[in-house]
Amino acid sequence: LPLETKELNGILMTKMMSDNWDKIWNFQAKPDDLLIATYTKAGTTWTQEIVDMIHNDGDVQKCQRANTFDRHPFIEWTLPLPLNSGLDLAIKMPSPRTLKTHLPVQMVPPSFWKENVKIIYMARNAKDSLVSYYHFSRMNKMFPDPGPWEEYIEAFKAGKVLWGSWYDHVRGWWDAKDRHRILYLFYEDMKEDPKREIQKILKFLEKDISEEVLNKIIHHTSFDVMKQNPMANYTTIPTSMMDHSISPFMRKGVPGDWKNHFTVAQNKDFDEDYEKKMAGTTLTFRTTI
Ligand code: A3P
Repeated sequence: LPLETKELNGILMTKMMSDNWDKIWNFQAKPDDLLIATYTKAGTTWTQEIVDMIHNDGDVQKCQRANTFDRHPFIEWTLPLPLNSGLDLAIKMPSPRTLKTHLPVQMVPPSFWKENVKIIYMARNAKDSLVSYYHFSRMNKMFPDPGPWEEYIEAFKAGKVLWGSWYDHVRGWWDAKDRHRILYLFYEDMKEDPKREIQKILKFLEKDISEEVLNKIIHHTSFDVMKQNPMANYTTIPTSMMDHSISPFMRKGVPGDWKNHFTVAQNKDFDEDYEKKMAGTTLTFRTTI
């Protein structure tokens, strides 16, 4: 560790993903799959837990059947070690399957489009994504060392991080959302009003649940409860791979922590660059809630 990296289609990936790309690209999606797609650190695990609770009608015990990594196979994670191969888990998994990916939209295996699979995409504002990714890269020994904070900002802006550019990712998925069955959600909205956002997911999944179950889901998927849940908080992963004493996976769970990290000058530079990279899109983020 860290895992070796290797670019694929101009995107930084782990070598295991690049080297196994044919197998990932040829993955066979099924019409009743559900795909949870995110740029890293946007609230993937949170979305997974919400969806799992919905699928299990609020039965917490059923959601404790395995850790989050194994419950919802990570389709581009192809190395059997140090963690299970998400791709192999996905292939073996009985339907209906809920799968996870961080791939940019143009790299999603074509069978997902062919089978018209439902996809939930969650996006999070750039600065909080950067901060979260920075701390995650410090504690996740499988990922490249993020280096000093000021260097990491530049790497993130340049898209020289695993899974590539945040800007291209959120824009690409935003552009795709009207052509496919994609529910595009925002971390900041989920934080502001989980009930409203979970109801959007229920509608998208064509599921009806009682008010009681809905309240149970909100409680079980709150930050404080998930932080204590070993099946959701990644503490079942060996510390040689994820060292929560450096920075816990369930770190802060709030919008706006970027304000504690960026200097005034760094923020100004970031905003100027952001305007350029996000020019011409209707996609907007709320950074103050
Ligand atoms: P922070 O590092 O800002 O705390 P992912 O699952 O995509 O890797 O995203 C991880 C980020 O989502 C972390 O952000 C984590 O704390 C946050 N998160 C996880 N569960 C959450 C929840 N229930 N409510 C709010 N934030 C949550």
